[in-house]
Amino acid sequence: MSWRQGINVNNVSTIICGSHVFLGVGAIQKMEFIAEQLKSRGIDSVIVMTGKGAYAKTGAWDYVTKALDQQKIRYTLYNKVQPNPETHQVDEAVKIARDAGAKAVISIGGGSPIDAGKSVAILLEYPDKTCQDLYELKFPAEKAVPLVAINLTHGTGSEANRFAVVTIPEKGYKPAIAYDCIYPLYSIDDPALMIGLPANQTRYVSVDAVNHVVEAATTVLNNPFAITLGKEVVQLVAEYLPVAIREPKNLTARYFLAYAAMIAGTSFDNGLLHFTHALEHPLSGMKPELTHGLGLAVLLPAVIRAIYPACGAILADLLSAVAPGLTGDAAEAEKAAEGVRAWLKSVGITEKLGDVGFKESDVPQLVQLAFETPGLAGLLNSAPVELSKEIVEQIYRESF
Ligand SMILES: [Fe+2]
Repeated sequence: MSWRQGINVNNVSTIICGSHVFLGVGAIQKMEFIAEQLKSRGIDSVIVMTGKGAYAKTGAWDYVTKALDQQKIRYTLYNKVQPNPETHQVDEAVKIARDAGAKAVISIGGGSPIDAGKSVAILLEYPDKTCQDLYELKFPAEKAVPLVAINLTHGTGSEANRFAVVTIPEKGYKPAIAYDCIYPLYSIDDPALMIGLPANQTRYVSVDAVNHVVEAATTVLNNPFAITLGKEVVQLVAEYLPVAIREPKNLTARYFLAYAAMIAGTSFDNGLLHFTHALEHPLSGMKPELTHGLGLAVLLPAVIRAIYPACGAILADLLSAVAPGLTGDAAEAEKAAEGVRAWLKSVGITEKLGDVGFKESDVPQLVQLAFETPGLAGLLNSAPVELSKEIVEQIYRESF
Protein backbone atom coordinates (compact mmCIF):
# COMPACT_ATOMS: atom_id res chain seq x y z
CA MET A 1 0.00 0.00 0.00
CA SER A 2 1.32 3.42 -0.84
CA TRP A 3 1.58 5.89 2.01
CA ARG A 4 -0.41 8.29 -0.15
CA GLN A 5 -3.52 6.32 0.70
CA GLY A 6 -2.86 7.08 4.37
CA ILE A 7 -2.73 10.86 3.84
CA ASN A 8 -5.81 12.57 5.18
CA VAL A 9 -6.71 14.98 2.39
CA ASN A 10 -9.02 16.81 4.78
CA ASN A 11 -6.00 17.86 6.84
CA VAL A 12 -5.02 21.40 5.95
CA SER A 13 -1.18 21.62 6.07
CA THR A 14 0.93 24.74 6.01
CA ILE A 15 3.80 24.30 3.55
CA ILE A 16 6.74 26.37 4.71
CA CYS A 17 10.00 27.31 2.97
CA GLY A 18 11.16 30.35 4.86
CA SER A 19 14.71 31.41 3.87
CA HIS A 20 16.68 32.36 0.78
CA VAL A 21 19.44 29.77 0.57
CA PHE A 22 22.33 30.15 -1.89
CA LEU A 23 23.47 26.60 -2.71
CA GLY A 24 26.48 25.65 -4.82
CA VAL A 25 30.25 25.81 -5.11
CA GLY A 26 31.22 29.46 -4.80
CA ALA A 27 27.98 30.49 -3.04
CA ILE A 28 30.15 32.28 -0.45
CA GLN A 29 30.71 34.99 -3.06
CA LYS A 30 27.08 35.95 -2.51
CA MET A 31 28.36 37.66 0.64
CA GLU A 32 28.90 40.77 -1.48
CA PHE A 33 25.21 40.84 -2.43
CA ILE A 34 24.19 40.04 1.16
CA ALA A 35 26.32 42.85 2.58
CA GLU A 36 24.75 45.24 0.07
CA GLN A 37 21.29 44.14 1.17
CA LEU A 38 22.17 44.62 4.84
CA LYS A 39 23.51 48.09 4.11
CA SER A 40 20.36 49.01 2.18
CA ARG A 41 18.39 48.17 5.34
CA GLY A 42 20.44 50.69 7.29
CA ILE A 43 22.58 48.08 9.02
CA ASP A 44 26.04 49.50 9.79
CA SER A 45 27.17 47.09 12.51
CA VAL A 46 26.89 43.31 12.87
CA ILE A 47 27.97 40.62 15.29
CA VAL A 48 29.56 37.50 13.82
CA MET A 49 28.81 34.33 15.78
CA THR A 50 31.17 31.44 15.19
CA GLY A 51 33.27 28.70 16.77
CA LYS A 52 37.02 28.41 17.33
CA GLY A 53 38.64 27.86 13.99
CA ALA A 54 36.57 26.67 11.03
CA TYR A 55 35.35 30.17 10.13
CA ALA A 56 38.93 31.16 9.32
CA LYS A 57 40.27 27.79 8.11
CA THR A 58 37.53 27.36 5.50
CA GLY A 59 38.23 30.82 4.10
CA ALA A 60 34.67 32.01 4.87
CA TRP A 61 35.96 34.77 7.14
CA ASP A 62 37.96 36.41 4.34
CA TYR A 63 34.88 36.68 2.13
CA VAL A 64 32.74 37.98 4.98
CA THR A 65 35.16 40.67 6.11
CA LYS A 66 35.89 41.79 2.55
CA ALA A 67 32.18 42.14 1.78
CA LEU A 68 31.46 43.97 5.04
CA ASP A 69 34.47 46.28 4.56
CA GLN A 70 33.27 47.16 1.06
CA GLN A 71 29.95 48.30 2.49
CA LYS A 72 31.61 49.95 5.50
CA ILE A 73 29.68 47.71 7.88
CA ARG A 74 31.45 47.34 11.24
CA TYR A 75 31.75 43.81 12.64
CA THR A 76 32.39 42.34 16.04
CA LEU A 77 33.66 38.78 16.22
CA TYR A 78 32.34 36.36 18.84
CA ASN A 79 34.28 33.16 18.17
CA LYS A 80 33.56 31.28 21.38
CA VAL A 81 30.47 29.28 20.37
CA GLN A 82 31.11 25.68 21.44
CA PRO A 83 29.36 22.55 20.13
CA ASN A 84 26.06 22.29 22.05
CA PRO A 85 26.13 26.04 22.88
CA GLU A 86 24.97 27.18 26.30
CA THR A 87 22.74 30.02 27.45
CA HIS A 88 25.51 31.97 29.18
CA GLN A 89 27.52 32.14 25.93
CA VAL A 90 24.52 33.58 24.14
CA ASP A 91 23.99 36.15 26.91
CA GLU A 92 27.66 37.12 26.74
CA ALA A 93 27.44 37.55 22.96
CA VAL A 94 24.24 39.59 23.25
CA LYS A 95 25.98 41.98 25.65
CA ILE A 96 28.93 42.37 23.30
CA ALA A 97 26.59 42.85 20.34
CA ARG A 98 24.54 45.46 22.16
CA ASP A 99 27.65 47.40 23.24
CA ALA A 100 28.79 47.38 19.59
CA GLY A 101 25.40 48.57 18.34
CA ALA A 102 24.95 45.44 16.20
CA LYS A 103 21.79 45.50 14.11
CA ALA A 104 22.17 42.09 12.48
CA VAL A 105 23.82 38.72 13.13
CA ILE A 106 26.04 36.71 10.81
CA SER A 107 26.58 33.09 11.90
CA ILE A 108 29.44 31.07 10.44
CA GLY A 109 29.54 27.35 11.22
CA GLY A 110 27.29 24.38 11.79
CA GLY A 111 24.13 24.17 13.86
CA SER A 112 25.76 25.48 17.03
CA PRO A 113 26.83 28.92 15.75
CA ILE A 114 23.67 29.22 13.65
CA ASP A 115 21.39 28.42 16.58
CA ALA A 116 23.36 30.63 18.96
CA GLY A 117 23.09 33.36 16.30
CA LYS A 118 19.32 32.91 16.04
CA SER A 119 19.10 33.31 19.80
CA VAL A 120 21.22 36.48 19.76
CA ALA A 121 19.04 37.84 16.93
CA ILE A 122 15.94 37.46 19.10
CA LEU A 123 17.49 38.75 22.33
CA LEU A 124 18.78 41.92 20.66
CA GLU A 125 15.07 42.80 20.29
CA TYR A 126 14.25 41.94 23.93
CA PRO A 127 16.68 43.87 26.15
CA ASP A 128 15.08 42.77 29.42
CA LYS A 129 15.18 39.03 28.64
CA THR A 130 17.88 36.39 29.08
CA CYS A 131 18.66 33.38 26.95
CA GLN A 132 17.34 31.17 29.73
CA ASP A 133 14.01 33.05 29.58
CA LEU A 134 13.94 32.39 25.83
CA TYR A 135 14.58 28.66 26.17
CA GLU A 136 12.28 28.20 29.16
CA LEU A 137 9.60 29.65 26.85
CA LYS A 138 8.92 32.50 29.29
CA PHE A 139 7.98 34.80 26.41
CA PRO A 140 6.94 34.23 22.81
CA ALA A 141 9.57 35.62 20.43
CA GLU A 142 7.86 37.70 17.78
CA LYS A 143 10.78 39.68 16.42
CA ALA A 144 14.48 39.33 15.76
CA VAL A 145 17.16 41.32 13.95
CA PRO A 146 18.13 39.97 10.50
CA LEU A 147 20.25 36.83 10.52
CA VAL A 148 22.63 35.54 7.85
CA ALA A 149 23.73 31.88 8.13
CA ILE A 150 26.93 30.69 6.46
CA ASN A 151 26.65 26.96 6.92
CA LEU A 152 29.85 24.93 7.23
CA THR A 153 28.35 21.47 7.82
CA HIS A 154 25.70 19.36 6.09
CA GLY A 155 23.41 18.28 8.90
CA THR A 156 21.28 20.60 10.94
CA GLY A 157 19.25 22.30 8.22
CA SER A 158 19.11 25.26 10.59
CA GLU A 159 20.06 27.52 7.67
CA ALA A 160 16.66 26.79 6.12
CA ASN A 161 14.29 26.71 9.08
CA ARG A 162 12.96 28.42 12.17
CA PHE A 163 14.32 26.06 14.81
CA ALA A 164 17.10 26.68 17.33
CA VAL A 165 18.54 24.70 20.22
CA VAL A 166 20.63 25.97 23.14
CA THR A 167 21.52 24.14 26.36
CA ILE A 168 20.66 25.40 29.86
CA PRO A 169 23.59 23.72 31.66
CA GLU A 170 22.35 24.33 35.21
CA LYS A 171 19.32 22.17 34.51
CA GLY A 172 20.72 19.66 32.00
CA TYR A 173 18.04 20.95 29.61
CA LYS A 174 18.61 21.18 25.88
CA PRO A 175 15.36 22.77 24.72
CA ALA A 176 14.29 23.60 21.18
CA ILE A 177 12.46 26.72 20.05
CA ALA A 178 10.69 27.39 16.75
CA TYR A 179 9.76 30.95 15.78
CA ASP A 180 9.00 32.49 12.40
CA CYS A 181 11.20 35.50 13.19
CA ILE A 182 14.41 33.41 13.08
CA TYR A 183 14.34 32.20 9.53
CA PRO A 184 17.70 33.38 8.23
CA LEU A 185 17.23 36.28 5.84
CA TYR A 186 19.92 34.69 3.65
CA SER A 187 21.88 31.48 4.00
CA ILE A 188 24.90 30.10 2.20
CA ASP A 189 25.42 26.38 1.55
CA ASP A 190 28.78 26.28 -0.23
CA PRO A 191 30.15 22.71 -0.60
CA ALA A 192 33.68 24.07 -1.03
CA LEU A 193 33.53 25.26 2.61
CA MET A 194 32.64 21.74 3.77
CA ILE A 195 35.50 19.68 2.32
CA GLY A 196 37.56 19.97 5.51
CA LEU A 197 34.92 18.25 7.68
CA PRO A 198 36.60 15.23 9.30
CA ALA A 199 35.19 11.77 8.55
CA ASN A 200 33.35 11.36 11.85
CA GLN A 201 31.78 14.81 11.63
CA THR A 202 30.77 13.98 8.07
CA ARG A 203 29.02 10.84 9.33
CA TYR A 204 27.32 12.46 12.31
CA VAL A 205 25.94 15.52 10.53
CA SER A 206 24.59 13.36 7.70
CA VAL A 207 22.89 11.06 10.21
CA ASP A 208 21.37 14.17 11.78
CA ALA A 209 19.79 15.01 8.39
CA VAL A 210 18.46 11.45 8.03
CA ASN A 211 16.92 11.63 11.49
CA HIS A 212 15.26 14.92 10.68
CA VAL A 213 13.32 13.33 7.84
CA VAL A 214 12.60 9.97 9.50
CA GLU A 215 10.89 12.00 12.20
CA ALA A 216 9.34 14.77 10.04
CA ALA A 217 7.79 12.21 7.70
CA THR A 218 6.16 10.27 10.53
CA THR A 219 4.81 12.84 12.99
CA VAL A 220 1.10 13.26 13.47
CA LEU A 221 1.54 16.55 11.58
CA ASN A 222 3.29 15.05 8.55
CA ASN A 223 2.25 15.88 5.00
CA PRO A 224 3.25 14.78 1.49
CA PHE A 225 5.81 17.60 1.21
CA ALA A 226 7.70 16.48 4.33
CA ILE A 227 7.60 12.83 3.19
CA THR A 228 8.69 13.48 -0.40
CA LEU A 229 11.59 15.65 0.71
CA GLY A 230 12.44 12.94 3.23
CA LYS A 231 12.73 10.14 0.71
CA GLU A 232 15.03 12.25 -1.42
CA VAL A 233 17.19 13.03 1.62
CA VAL A 234 17.62 9.36 2.54
CA GLN A 235 18.50 8.46 -1.06
CA LEU A 236 21.03 11.27 -1.36
CA VAL A 237 22.72 10.47 1.95
CA ALA A 238 22.82 6.74 1.11
CA GLU A 239 24.51 7.54 -2.19
CA TYR A 240 26.87 10.35 -1.27
CA LEU A 241 27.87 9.80 2.37
CA PRO A 242 30.16 6.85 1.51
CA VAL A 243 31.71 8.97 -1.26
CA ALA A 244 32.35 11.92 1.08
CA ILE A 245 33.93 9.63 3.69
CA ARG A 246 36.20 8.11 1.04
CA GLU A 247 36.94 11.34 -0.81
CA PRO A 248 36.40 14.26 1.57
CA LYS A 249 37.17 16.82 -1.14
CA ASN A 250 34.60 15.44 -3.61
CA LEU A 251 32.51 18.55 -4.31
CA THR A 252 29.65 16.64 -5.92
CA ALA A 253 29.24 14.51 -2.80
CA ARG A 254 29.45 17.56 -0.52
CA TYR A 255 26.97 19.43 -2.74
CA PHE A 256 24.34 16.71 -2.54
CA LEU A 257 24.88 16.16 1.18
CA ALA A 258 24.46 19.91 1.74
CA TYR A 259 21.36 19.92 -0.45
CA ALA A 260 20.00 16.87 1.44
CA ALA A 261 20.58 18.53 4.82
CA MET A 262 18.95 21.74 3.63
CA ILE A 263 15.79 20.07 2.34
CA ALA A 264 15.74 17.91 5.47
CA GLY A 265 15.65 21.19 7.41
CA THR A 266 12.66 22.23 5.32
CA SER A 267 11.08 18.81 5.79
CA PHE A 268 11.07 19.13 9.58
CA ASP A 269 10.12 22.78 9.40
CA ASN A 270 6.91 21.38 7.94
CA GLY A 271 6.54 18.02 9.62
CA LEU A 272 8.25 18.76 12.96
CA LEU A 273 10.22 16.11 14.87
CA HIS A 274 9.44 13.54 17.52
CA PHE A 275 11.19 10.74 19.43
CA THR A 276 14.78 10.66 18.22
CA HIS A 277 15.35 14.37 18.80
CA ALA A 278 13.26 14.56 21.97
CA LEU A 279 15.26 11.65 23.41
CA GLU A 280 18.65 12.78 22.11
CA HIS A 281 18.45 16.21 23.73
CA PRO A 282 18.60 14.73 27.26
CA LEU A 283 21.70 12.77 26.17
CA SER A 284 23.70 15.75 24.97
CA GLY A 285 22.05 17.90 27.65
CA MET A 286 23.66 15.63 30.27
CA LYS A 287 26.88 15.09 28.30
CA PRO A 288 27.57 18.23 26.22
CA GLU A 289 30.64 16.53 24.72
CA LEU A 290 28.34 14.04 22.94
CA THR A 291 27.88 14.95 19.28
CA HIS A 292 24.20 15.43 18.43
CA GLY A 293 24.32 13.20 15.34
CA LEU A 294 26.02 10.35 17.18
CA GLY A 295 23.41 10.52 19.95
CA LEU A 296 20.71 10.31 17.29
CA ALA A 297 22.37 7.37 15.55
CA VAL A 298 22.45 5.46 18.83
CA LEU A 299 18.69 5.90 19.31
CA LEU A 300 17.49 5.55 15.72
CA PRO A 301 17.07 1.75 15.42
CA ALA A 302 14.98 1.55 18.61
CA VAL A 303 12.86 4.51 17.48
CA ILE A 304 12.23 2.85 14.10
CA ARG A 305 11.16 -0.32 15.88
CA ALA A 306 8.79 1.61 18.14
CA ILE A 307 7.07 3.60 15.39
CA TYR A 308 7.14 1.19 12.45
CA PRO A 309 3.80 -0.48 13.29
CA ALA A 310 2.12 2.95 13.21
CA CYS A 311 3.65 4.24 9.96
CA GLY A 312 5.19 1.29 8.13
CA ALA A 313 4.05 2.37 4.67
CA ILE A 314 5.83 5.70 4.97
CA LEU A 315 8.99 4.19 6.47
CA ALA A 316 9.16 1.38 3.91
CA ASP A 317 9.20 3.97 1.13
CA LEU A 318 11.34 6.54 2.93
CA LEU A 319 14.02 4.04 3.96
CA SER A 320 14.12 2.09 0.70
CA ALA A 321 17.66 3.28 -0.09
CA VAL A 322 19.08 2.19 3.28
CA ALA A 323 16.78 -0.69 4.26
CA PRO A 324 15.44 -2.19 1.04
CA GLY A 325 12.73 -4.81 0.81
CA LEU A 326 10.28 -3.46 3.39
CA THR A 327 6.58 -3.55 2.53
CA GLY A 328 5.14 -1.54 5.40
CA ASP A 329 3.65 -4.48 7.25
CA ALA A 330 3.61 -3.87 11.01
CA ALA A 331 5.34 -7.22 11.62
CA GLU A 332 8.49 -5.88 9.93
CA ALA A 333 9.38 -3.50 12.77
CA GLU A 334 12.44 -5.48 13.85
CA LYS A 335 13.54 -6.01 10.25
CA ALA A 336 13.31 -2.26 9.62
CA ALA A 337 15.32 -1.49 12.75
CA GLU A 338 17.90 -4.10 11.78
CA GLY A 339 18.14 -2.63 8.26
CA VAL A 340 18.87 0.81 9.65
CA ARG A 341 21.39 -0.62 12.12
CA ALA A 342 23.17 -2.39 9.27
CA TRP A 343 23.24 0.81 7.23
CA LEU A 344 24.70 2.78 10.15
CA LYS A 345 27.36 0.09 10.49
CA SER A 346 28.11 0.31 6.77
CA VAL A 347 28.95 4.01 7.17
CA GLY A 348 31.09 3.31 10.23
CA ILE A 349 28.71 3.96 13.15
CA THR A 350 28.38 1.03 15.56
CA GLU A 351 28.05 2.76 18.94
CA LYS A 352 25.39 1.84 21.48
CA LEU A 353 24.22 3.99 24.38
CA GLY A 354 26.77 2.35 26.68
CA ASP A 355 29.59 3.28 24.29
CA VAL A 356 28.81 7.00 24.57
CA GLY A 357 29.11 7.09 28.34
CA PHE A 358 25.66 6.13 29.69
CA LYS A 359 24.71 3.39 32.13
CA GLU A 360 21.36 1.64 32.38
CA SER A 361 20.96 3.33 35.76
CA ASP A 362 20.82 6.72 33.94
CA VAL A 363 17.58 5.76 32.18
CA PRO A 364 15.12 7.13 34.81
CA GLN A 365 16.88 10.53 34.72
CA LEU A 366 16.89 10.55 30.90
CA VAL A 367 13.17 9.75 30.82
CA GLN A 368 12.52 12.52 33.32
CA LEU A 369 14.53 15.04 31.29
CA ALA A 370 12.70 14.06 28.09
CA PHE A 371 9.40 14.95 29.73
CA GLU A 372 10.64 17.96 31.72
CA THR A 373 12.80 19.86 29.24
CA PRO A 374 10.93 22.89 27.87
CA GLY A 375 9.99 22.61 24.21
CA LEU A 376 10.37 18.82 24.03
CA ALA A 377 6.72 18.11 24.92
CA GLY A 378 5.70 19.42 21.51
CA LEU A 379 8.02 16.89 19.87
CA LEU A 380 6.99 13.97 22.06
CA ASN A 381 3.32 14.69 21.44
CA SER A 382 3.96 14.66 17.67
CA ALA A 383 5.08 11.01 17.74
CA PRO A 384 2.94 8.63 15.71
CA VAL A 385 2.30 6.29 18.63
CA GLU A 386 0.61 6.97 21.94
CA LEU A 387 3.01 8.75 24.24
CA SER A 388 3.90 7.15 27.58
CA LYS A 389 6.87 7.03 29.92
CA GLU A 390 7.06 3.31 29.15
CA ILE A 391 7.68 3.78 25.43
CA VAL A 392 10.34 6.44 26.04
CA GLU A 393 12.01 4.19 28.59
CA GLN A 394 11.83 1.24 26.19
CA ILE A 395 13.60 3.22 23.45
CA TYR A 396 16.42 4.19 25.82
CA ARG A 397 16.78 0.64 27.15
CA GLU A 398 16.81 -0.93 23.68
CA SER A 399 19.56 1.48 22.67
CA PHE A 400 22.09 -0.16 25.03
FE1 LIG B 1 19.10 17.53 14.61
